[in-house]
Amino acid sequence: MVKQTKKNPEKVYKIAVLPGDGIGTEVTAQSIKVLNMIAETYGHHFEYTGGLIGAVAIDQTGSALPPETVEICMESDAVLFGAVGHPKYDNDPDAKVRPEQGILGIRKALQLFANIRPINTYPALYELSPLKKERLAEVDFIIFRELTGGIYFGAKETAADGSSASDNCVYSRKEIERIARLAFDYAAKRKKKVTLVDKANVLETSRLWRKVVREITADYPEIEVDYMFVDNAAMQILLNPQQFDIMLTENMFGDILSDEASVLSGSLGMLPSASVGRGTALFEPIHGSYPQAAGKDIANPTGSILSAAMMLDHFGLQREAEVVRNAVEWLLDNNFVTKDIDPINFYFTSTIGDLVSDFVGNKIPGVVHKENIEVRKSTVI
Ligand code: IPM
Ligand code: MN
Repeated sequence: MVKQTKKNPEKVYKIAVLPGDGIGTEVTAQSIKVLNMIAETYGHHFEYTGGLIGAVAIDQTGSALPPETVEICMESDAVLFGAVGHPKYDNDPDAKVRPEQGILGIRKALQLFANIRPINTYPALYELSPLKKERLAEVDFIIFRELTGGIYFGAKETAADGSSASDNCVYSRKEIERIARLAFDYAAKRKKKVTLVDKANVLETSRLWRKVVREITADYPEIEVDYMFVDNAAMQILLNPQQFDIMLTENMFGDILSDEASVLSGSLGMLPSASVGRGTALFEPIHGSYPQAAGKDIANPTGSILSAAMMLDHFGLQREAEVVRNAVEWLLDNNFVTKDIDPINFYFTSTIGDLVSDFVGNKIPGVVHKENIEVRKSTVI
């Protein structure tokens, strides 16, 4: 964590900005707007350096993760990431380079072994969730997804004649222990419960996860630990999501369960994440590049803006992070939402960014004149 505040008012926070593909550019631009207003209002200094990643990087350099991008990230205090992915690669199983290699590569290069995905619900969005209201109230858990190991990074092979293929799933004790300790430390500051999600009735790697986690529980006597098979966990997220505090799991299970859990909040567009480990921490919305919406100013920038809030937390700027989160609550309370949330009465991506920025800068008057925003005359309402 970068130490700051009064002792060090001149601190310049260097932020690497990797917008990537599709809606990545639009949503990231809103976060920067908000960060700039935070800087102006609270007297901080953020310095941005852009980098290429994903399909745009392939188009310009032939690589989804040019070495220059890795360098920029390594020299920064944090990375703000948008999204990667392009349909032309999704439908081509023979593609040699893929946009996704960009995000997988940067996670590995920065050794970001823990992906932290908070799952919250908002009363204003209960209607959008497929679950009943009673199941959504007070849902507040965090998925700790291991991010640099497992089947994602194990040896991959296709037989020379193309008749079979394999992906190896490998975990070392060390890889399990470092994220498990982080998860337990977080739980200690929250509801003091960790649920390990695995498939220990079938997989050898899962049995190692259970063994290592069981060993370290000795150091955390105040934490309640639950062990749950992943198939059951997929069901429990829908049946009784209130039971979770910290959900700890391996890479692929975490990928799948976090998309599932996102429906609780009402829209995938709402959810932020932080990836932390040994190198520069990276902040990204959990949604993808959503190519159908790219360039239309309709994407939901909230996931990115809340990721920027997690970045502020990481800088030790808790008060500033809280103001950004309050702004998002205020948006929802006033029905300032994007098309994914209200397909009829929606606001543009850039308008949402302006509104959050105005809120953060204390520029929202007591009375809200929605007609001015609807016609996009003014952002200061
Ligand atoms: C995510 C994404 C990535 C992943 C893709 C884009 C490689 O789905 O961040 O959840 O699978 O980790
Ligand atoms: Mn995913």
